[in-house]
Amino acid sequence: VRHEDAVSLIRSSVEGLKGSWADLGSGRGTFTRALHDVLGADSRIVAVDVDARAVEEVQAWARTEAPNVSALQADFTQPIDLSALDGFVLANALHFVKDQAPALARLVKMLRPGGRVVLIEYDKRPADRWCPYPVGIAALPQLAKSVGLGRFTVAESRPSNYSGVIYAAHADAPS
Ligand SMILES: C[S@@+](CC[C@H](N)C(=O)[O-])C[C@H]1O[C@@H](n2cnc3c(N)ncnc32)[C@H](O)[C@@H]1O
Repeated sequence: VRHEDAVSLIRSSVEGLKGSWADLGSGRGTFTRALHDVLGADSRIVAVDVDARAVEEVQAWARTEAPNVSALQADFTQPIDLSALDGFVLANALHFVKDQAPALARLVKMLRPGGRVVLIEYDKRPADRWCPYPVGIAALPQLAKSVGLGRFTVAESRPSNYSGVIYAAHADAPS
């Protein structure tokens, strides 16, 4: 996903919700940078990834370009020391998790009341090694219900370069 595409995917789900955010499964930071652009320099963003090299790459960028961004090497399916987040992004990351509901439920506990979950995933994409556990749009109502989130709104979607449709959806924790 190119930077401009990442920005346009998340913009309407994120704009105006300044504060403390995380990008979970941040990889090389495509959506960390997009969050930084949309939220502005007065928000705090933590990029989280298991991959040490990916974390270092984001750290190197943050050091020179974005002092409000930090990066943390951690597995987001395990407890992470983050709390009272205004929101988090899970971009192309939840589809690596087999047991999505319990993992997402733990992450939702890191949000402040009313905090926002932004999900970037693929609809109508068959499972493969790059997307072993697809999270189609049809799965969202049950997922939200089982983790105690309000309804997901699919805010953006477009044909994916791989297969199916890439979409951005958001849902809020109860306030
Ligand atoms: C396909 S990349 C997506 C990167 C970025 N979010 C994007 O959309 O461009 C998936 C990333 O999720 C990370 N990841 C997968 N499972 C993870 C987990 N349980 N905890 C932390 N990171 C994870 C991988 O290391 C990889 O960097």
